[in-house]
Amino acid sequence: SVIPLRERNIAFIGFMGVGKTTIGELVANKLVRDFIDIDKEIENEYQMPTSEIFKTIGEKAFRKKERDYVEKFCQKRLQVISLGGGAFLQEEIRNICLSTCIIFFLDISWERWKERLNLIIDSRPVLQGRNLEEIEELFHKRREIYSIHNSKFTTDNLDAEEIADYITDSLKL
Ligand code: S3P
Repeated sequence: SVIPLRERNIAFIGFMGVGKTTIGELVANKLVRDFIDIDKEIENEYQMPTSEIFKTIGEKAFRKKERDYVEKFCQKRLQVISLGGGAFLQEEIRNICLSTCIIFFLDISWERWKERLNLIIDSRPVLQGRNLEEIEELFHKRREIYSIHNSKFTTDNLDAEEIADYITDSLKL
């Protein structure tokens, strides 16, 4: 049976460093709902940052953990969930989210995102060892996958608090 919109989880998708965790947490607080960050769940389990997890268990095992946690938390209702930027590439995760969540895509222009690269590169194993051209290609390829969403917000010209307000208001309509 189809889960009615008002009972669904809210899932945030989008490229690395766009603000999924910050905005997700703000929205959860505004709606008085639980907030789950899938990356944090995995980091807590292994007691190490994502970059170390990639080195020790490898990306494949990390992706399996992403699936396990998305499956676990999407069995519940009314959660606010931030996914890692690569999670939505997995068909299984997309399908779980499509049937249990309202999916918000947090978008950003390449020009704006590029300014943040230096701030996030050290903690993002997927960006390491790639030149700027390759990262831009990844950015645009991922954007096509994020086009599967229910609602999209561009983060270019607003701060996290303003975006969280917009999203919260849009849910009250
Ligand atoms: C990844 C994004 C990261 C984290 C991991 C892999 C990706 O999450 O899950 O480093 O493949 O895009 P953020 O989107 O929160 O940076």
